[in-house]
Amino acid sequence: MKVFIKSPGRVNLIGEHTDYNGGYVLPCAINLSVNLYFENCSEKSNVTSDLGYSMIFNTSEKYQKSQKHWENYVLGVVNELKHIKKTINNFKCNITSSLPSGAGISSSSALVCGLIKGISILNNIELDNSEIISLSRNVEHKYIGVLGGIMDQYTILNAKKNKAILLNCDNLERKFIKLNLKDYELLLLDTNIKHNLANTEYNSRVDECKQALEIINKVVDANYSNLSKVSIDDITKSKNALKNKIYRRALFVFKENERTIKSAEHLEKNNLNQFGRLMYESHNGLKNNYEVSCKELDFLVEYTKQYDSILGARMMGGGFGGCTINLINKKFTKKFIRLIKKQYKLNYKLDLGVIIAKPQKGLEIIK
Ligand code: GLA
Repeated sequence: MKVFIKSPGRVNLIGEHTDYNGGYVLPCAINLSVNLYFENCSEKSNVTSDLGYSMIFNTSEKYQKSQKHWENYVLGVVNELKHIKKTINNFKCNITSSLPSGAGISSSSALVCGLIKGISILNNIELDNSEIISLSRNVEHKYIGVLGGIMDQYTILNAKKNKAILLNCDNLERKFIKLNLKDYELLLLDTNIKHNLANTEYNSRVDECKQALEIINKVVDANYSNLSKVSIDDITKSKNALKNKIYRRALFVFKENERTIKSAEHLEKNNLNQFGRLMYESHNGLKNNYEVSCKELDFLVEYTKQYDSILGARMMGGGFGGCTINLINKKFTKKFIRLIKKQYKLNYKLDLGVIIAKPQKGLEIIK
C-alpha cells in the first residue's frame, strides 16, 4: 500500500500561551506543509527527508531515544503506536517539506501528526483525531522535551480552508470563524533566530502557570482546574501572595483569553482594525508580562507601527525567535518586505524570512 499525507503548518492569529492553561486560541492551518510518502516494505524501515536526513531501523526492535534529534520524532511515533498495536510493520517514508523548521509555524507537530497518520494507516490502526492529538503530545513531551499544549495538533487535524478555529482548549468546544481579510493578508516575518533556551523557557512558563494556579487556589480557597478559569478579581486578591513575575504571568493569561474571544468577534464582523489593535496588545503582553519575546521580534513589531497599511503585528508561537504575524494591506506587502528586510539586515546582520500565509484546510490523506 502507498499513502501520501500532506500535513500543514499553522499560524495562530491570537491566543498565545493559553492552550496549556485551558484557554482560548485562534489558529488556522496554512498553505505550507510537511509531505510524507509512505509505502509498506518487507525489509528494514527507511525514512529519508529532503533535508538530507535518513535513518534505517527495524520496527520490531526496541528503541530508546536517539542522539540525533530528528530521529526521535520517528522513533517516538513508532514506540507510541506500539502501545496500541504490538507489531508495527516496517515501512518506507520519504519526507519533503515547504515548512521552515524552528519558525514557530509547527513543523514539528506537522511531522509528528503526519507520521502517526501514515504509519497507522499502513498498519490498519484506526485512530480518531483526539487519539492522534494525545499520541502526538506524548511524542513531543517524552521524546522532544517540549511540554506543549494541543493547539498545533488540533489545528493541523481539524482546520478548514479560509477559516480560523476559536478553540477552548479546556473543553475543546470550537467555533469556525470565517476569515474575510478583504484587502489584507497575513504576512509572516521569520527572524531566523533559533534560541536554544526556547524549550527550557517554554517549560518554565508551563511551570510558572502551575505555580500561579496553586497559590491562587490556596489564597481564595477555590478549586480552579486551570489558570484560564481564574477571575481577574481572584488574581488581584492573590497579588501579594504571588511573586511579581508569577502575578504577571497570570495577568497575561487572563488578558490574552479576553483578547482572543474579542478578536474572534471582530473577525466575524470584519472589524480588521480592532483585531489589529488586539494583535499589538497581545505582543505587549507577551513581551512585558509573559517575557517570551526577544529583541529581534520586538524590532519587527515596532517597525510596523509607522505604517497605516499594517493593522496589527505580534510575535507568534512559543517565542524567543520564530516569526511575527502581520496583518498587512496587500498593496503594501511588496514594498514593506523590501524595507523591512533591509532594516533587519542592517540591525541584526541576519536575513529575514518571508511567508504569505494562506488559511488552508487541515491534514489530507491522498491514497
Ligand atoms: C508552541 C506550542 C503550542 C502553544 C504555543 C504558544 O507553539 O507547541 O502548544 O503553547 O507554543 O501559544
